[in-house]
Amino acid sequence: MLPPAPARAPRDTDAAVRSTDSDAAQARLSAISKGYLFDQFAHHLVPRARFATPRPPLINHGTHVRATALDTLVDEWLVAGGVDVKKQIISVGAGSDSRFWRISTGPLKDALHAYLEVDLPENTLAKAMAIRKSKELSAVLGDNVTLTLGGQGLESPRYVLAPVDLREDPAQTLQPFVARGMLDPSIPTLIVAECVLVYMDRAASDRVLRWAANTFDVAGGLVYEMFGLNDGFGRVMRENLLARNVQLPGVDAYPTLHDQAARFRQTGFVTVQRALSLRTIRATHISSEERARIAQLEMLDEVEELELVLAHYVIAFGVKASDPESPFASWNLPAALPVVR
Ligand SMILES: C[S@@+](CC[C@H](N)C(=O)[O-])C[C@H]1O[C@@H](n2cnc3c(N)ncnc32)[C@H](O)[C@@H]1O
Repeated sequence: MLPPAPARAPRDTDAAVRSTDSDAAQARLSAISKGYLFDQFAHHLVPRARFATPRPPLINHGTHVRATALDTLVDEWLVAGGVDVKKQIISVGAGSDSRFWRISTGPLKDALHAYLEVDLPENTLAKAMAIRKSKELSAVLGDNVTLTLGGQGLESPRYVLAPVDLREDPAQTLQPFVARGMLDPSIPTLIVAECVLVYMDRAASDRVLRWAANTFDVAGGLVYEMFGLNDGFGRVMRENLLARNVQLPGVDAYPTLHDQAARFRQTGFVTVQRALSLRTIRATHISSEERARIAQLEMLDEVEELELVLAHYVIAFGVKASDPESPFASWNLPAALPVVR
C-alpha cells in the first residue's frame, strides 16, 4: 500500500529495502487488530507488535484485498489435485510473513511437503531469532530445529529459512536446496514473490522466475507488486519511497497488466499467465457476505482514493505444467474469495 511518510531515511539502499518489511508487517498487524484478517502468528514475528500503530481504513482495506487474494491463490495451489498430492512453496523476500505457520496449522497442512523462505541476511537473522524466542512458532516446527549460518538461517524437517540475495544467480543461491534434497524437483512447486521483485532489476527478477520454471516439473509463480507508476499517483509514490532511500529498479520493466502476465510466458511459465489489479479483485472477487462483514468494521469515506491506490497494485501468476490436463493448469483465483474467519 502507500508507503508511510519518512521518519528517518536509512543510510544505505539495502537497509531501506529491508525496512519495507516492517511497513508490510505493521500494515498486516493493523488489519488483524481491526478484524479484517485473522492471523494468530503474525504478532510473534514482529518486534514490539503490541505497540503497532493502527493504519487508516484505506490501508486496512487494501491489506485485506491483497492478503485474501494471495492467501486464496496459495490455498488453491495446495488443493490442486487433492491434498494427498504434496506441494512445495518457496517464498522469496519473505520478510516477517506468517504464511508457513498458518498453513501448517490449517486444513491444508498435509499437502505441504516443504517450505523455503529466503530474504536478505539481516532480515532472516531477525526472523530466526523471533522463531526461536516464540513458543507458539517453535511448537509448529517440532523438536528438530537448528540455527544455521551463525543464526542467519534456521532449518527444520519441513521449513527452512535462509539468507539469500535474490540479485545473485539462483543457480548458486537457490539450486543448492534442490541439490541437497530439501526441495524435490518432481513435486509441484509454487514460488511466491510478495512485493519483492520490484526492488531488483528485470534481469535479476526474471532469473529468479526462470530458475523456478526450469527447475520444477510443475511450477507456479505468484507475484504481487506495485505497477504502472507513470501517472501522477505513481510519481508521488516514487517520491515518497525515494525520500526513504527506497528505489524501485524493477517497476518500469512490467508497467501494464498485459506485461505483468507476459513476464510469466517470457520466463518459462508457458501454460498459464494472468494478471489482475487489486482494484479489479476488490470489485469482482470479494463476495457480498465478505463485503458486508468488512463494511461494518470501519467507516471508509475515500472509496475513490482506495480505488486509485488499488489500481496500482497487481497480482500476477503463471504455471508451467507439461500436461494440459494437469489440475495445476487450471490454477486460478476463484470468482468469490472466501470469507475471512
Ligand atoms: C515489502 S517487504 C515484503 C515482505 C513480505 N513478502 C510481505 O509481503 O509481507 C520486501 C522484502 O523483500 C526483501 N528483499 C528485497 N530485496 C531482496 C533481495 N535482493 N534478496 C532477498 N530479499 C530481498 C526485503 O528484505 C523485505 O523483507
